[in-house]
Amino acid sequence: MSQQRRVLLESMETLSYMPGFGNDFETESLPGALPQGMNSPQKCNYGLYAEQLSGSPFTAPRAENERSWLYRMRPSVRHATKFDRMDMPYWRSAPTREDAELPIQQLRWDPIPFPAEDTDFLTGMRTITTCGDTDGQAGIASHVYLANRSMDTDYFTNADGEMLILPQEGALEIFTEMGRMHIGPGDLAVVPRGMMFKVALLDGPARGYVCENYGGTLTLPDRGPIGANCLANPRDFKTPVADYEDREGISGRIILKWGGRFHQAAIDHSPLDVVAWHGNYVPYAYDLRTYSPVGAILFDHPDPSIFTVLTAPSETPGTANVDFILFPDRWLVAENTFRPPWYHRNIMSEFMGLIFGVYDAKPEGFKPGGMSLHNCMLPHGPDRDAFEGASNTELKPEKLENTMAFMFETRFPQHVTHYAAHIEQRQDNYADCWEGLERKFDGTPGIK
Ligand code: FE2
Repeated sequence: MSQQRRVLLESMETLSYMPGFGNDFETESLPGALPQGMNSPQKCNYGLYAEQLSGSPFTAPRAENERSWLYRMRPSVRHATKFDRMDMPYWRSAPTREDAELPIQQLRWDPIPFPAEDTDFLTGMRTITTCGDTDGQAGIASHVYLANRSMDTDYFTNADGEMLILPQEGALEIFTEMGRMHIGPGDLAVVPRGMMFKVALLDGPARGYVCENYGGTLTLPDRGPIGANCLANPRDFKTPVADYEDREGISGRIILKWGGRFHQAAIDHSPLDVVAWHGNYVPYAYDLRTYSPVGAILFDHPDPSIFTVLTAPSETPGTANVDFILFPDRWLVAENTFRPPWYHRNIMSEFMGLIFGVYDAKPEGFKPGGMSLHNCMLPHGPDRDAFEGASNTELKPEKLENTMAFMFETRFPQHVTHYAAHIEQRQDNYADCWEGLERKFDGTPGIK
């Protein structure tokens, strides 16, 4: 392990978090900063301002109602100038059908290299697909970020959606209004819609994936007959304790994404000035290695939904705005079974990425940092070599190790951006991986 990596891991351990998913938390970084027994006293301790951040309508049912109370040095309205429009040319929002220049097809990309110019988490965001509609609060965007420098005096807030962040290379400090989180490859973090944050690099250039979720907030899926345990367990989700920056006299910017467009306003102090907070509308981090996969223990292959970590529901029961699905280390033990994912066509659209290792259905050509897109009703499945190998191998218990692939699976068809259609990392010949799947049927019975 490198010295840099060791320092990173130590720093990740020194941060404090509160465990649990969907809890009503309370935290203060100075004693007595958090009002007790009420939300909005006539005067707050330390001269703080009280401010509510609502993640659901006030009248949402109790089980879905999300809001937090923030006690801060200045209210959020206190920025120095009005908002101006600004460009963020590679970060696109749905709808982008004018972008959809490619004939419909199965698609795959190699990892996108770091650009020569300076990029941070915002300017390095590269949108690959979009679907749905930001104004309709439905759909997602799938992005890759390529950052080689930290954000310092730029602070970002996204009114269009929450952001699920998956590092693939390099670790991040995500400093939100509610505190700091450190994550690296194999972790995720979610920053809620409308929450201010900035991202610093902890160990060099950083690449990863982002699901920008315009729809209902991500939550844990029901487990049904699986029962009360396994899959993602609530205690493994970590919400930061209150922390703040006390910075005055800076030439900073608030960058706001709203309605698919970017806006900026000057600010002379850090807006990460929340000294105490309570509530259940919160950022969180999660170590994907704590996910407990469940699968077939005698025969056949369940639907990939068995690997759902988080789901953002739509108004139609069982039909997700987006599911975040993980393919982690696991044992394959099914007897007399074709063990990789089967061939299929799916009404949902599947964006996949690979954080590390090898994905069993595509041992060649799908590289860590790369991605694939299997859109609504487009057929896909194992490539020829994976099919022949899995069809002819002797079936013994086998462990898939050091592998972590994932999927953003959405009910909406995904549209490829102009950028993603034209980068040289798009593989022209992806569909060739199914060439050679020849006819074996000759009308006579028997195993072929
Ligand atoms: Fe699929």
